Amino acid sequence: MAISLKVNGEDKRIDADPATPLLYVLRDDLALNGAKYGCGLGQCGSCMVVVNGEAVLSCMTPVMLMEGREITTVEGLGTIEEPGPLQQAFIEMQAAQCGYCIPGMMMSAHALLRRNANPSDEDIRQALGTNLCRCGTHMRIMAAIRRAGELMQAAGLPAAGEGRTG
Ligand code: FES
Repeated sequence: MAISLKVNGEDKRIDADPATPLLYVLRDDLALNGAKYGCGLGQCGSCMVVVNGEAVLSCMTPVMLMEGREITTVEGLGTIEEPGPLQQAFIEMQAAQCGYCIPGMMMSAHALLRRNANPSDEDIRQALGTNLCRCGTHMRIMAAIRRAGELMQAAGLPAAGEGRTG
């Protein structure tokens, strides 16, 4: 079945079984490998993307539900040459250890910072409640999210990555 998607601001058309998880389409059809397969059961958050501003587990989301929605992956937050505030902050705070969970962490943080660029620690804990990190870098991840909020506010950005993609 032909399905039209909008990913990181670009229109995409793919041919897939409608029940295919969005994660597989992103990785296998669109070569967007930022979102990771961890558990495939909605329990780890490594596959998190943002859909219409909300954090969504792409391993649990059939692609047919994504028609006409705005999908943002970690690739949509910036580039190596021009990293967005979240990417800058995660580098600055050295928030990654093995790094496998980080794209999912960043997308949950992206959804949070779109709503609130000055989140409390409790806000961050709640927003990242689904995201697991087995290396234990939680404190640095929280510091990076707070720092991203500061960078956004200093830059006058209303939301993380705003102006790049939804
Ligand atoms: Fe989707 Fe673990 S791979 S929640």
